[in-house]
Amino acid sequence: MSLLRALTRLSQPDLVSIASLSSSEVEGVLELAALVKGRPEEFHSALAGKQLVLLFEKPSLRTRVTFEVGMGELGGRTLFVDQTGSRLDAREELSDIARNLERWVDGIVLRTFAHQTVVEMAAHASIPVINGLSNREHPCQALGDYFTLQEKFSDARKVKLAYVGDGNNVAHSLLLTAALLGGWLCVATPPGYEPAGDIVRLAQEIAARTRARLEFTHDCRAAVTGADAVYTDVWASMGQEGEAEERRRVFAPYQVNEELLARAAPHAVFLHCLPAHRGEEVTDAVIDSSRSLVYDQAENRLHVQKAILLLLLGNGLRRADRTGSARG
Ligand code: CP
Ligand code: NVA
Repeated sequence: MSLLRALTRLSQPDLVSIASLSSSEVEGVLELAALVKGRPEEFHSALAGKQLVLLFEKPSLRTRVTFEVGMGELGGRTLFVDQTGSRLDAREELSDIARNLERWVDGIVLRTFAHQTVVEMAAHASIPVINGLSNREHPCQALGDYFTLQEKFSDARKVKLAYVGDGNNVAHSLLLTAALLGGWLCVATPPGYEPAGDIVRLAQEIAARTRARLEFTHDCRAAVTGADAVYTDVWASMGQEGEAEERRRVFAPYQVNEELLARAAPHAVFLHCLPAHRGEEVTDAVIDSSRSLVYDQAENRLHVQKAILLLLLGNGLRRADRTGSARG
């Protein structure tokens, strides 16, 4: 049965990076998300009694609400800890936070500046740690986005996705997901704003196995030409507010507007992780058009994250080799 196949797939206890998943695990998450979306009532008590803590160093609408709603729909509950006033480790060592949290709750979602904070929390905590966005990656977003493409086009591997803009956390997770799925992703950034070299190398190593097609250019018109889907994100991510003015100047030619989108396939859709800075990386005419799937993406965060929670927190899915509390 497909659900059981999917449930036995995740080998890593945490979701820190898309790179910790295998190709079949990415497919399993998308498969389970489709089941959860189609038959939510079958999962309403799957995580009964489980508690998930959310610690966020940055603001959030979608990630916070979808984890809170998702956990509730699975029968569990969440506790939100606002860390926007100070970094997570400002008051005590991450290892001590981990060793406290694992005594009380069953999982941790972190939204951080430093990716290393998520890595270290996962290393120290005996309970699953989920990256709810770091400066380096946004794995839940990319999985939700590929789920959205899969829904729209049936087979996301055949979709030419053009990502236009900053080579940021979202671009990194999309690259790794495209690589694992054997998809086709063309990334167009201004010079100096390319995705990180180590992520590109890792994605290319994966792509050599999966036959994914990963392309990199500074020419956004070339990238978008013939694309089935065009994706953009803010030019200045959270934490880069001081660079916003300079970035507005550099990225202006990379705006996704009707003229750029006209180069894509006639059936092309528009994607954005949101929040959007309307009038900057995307115009109202594009984001509000019938081509725009941005609210489907936002909805699908819920279904995909429910699948991730089931796979990481569900009974029988804990790794026996983890050390720590009796709760594990
Ligand atoms: N896309 C996304 O993660 O949105 P939030 O920053 O609102 O969580
Ligand atoms: N790149 C953006 C994504 C927000 C969901 C940021 O990090 O702010």
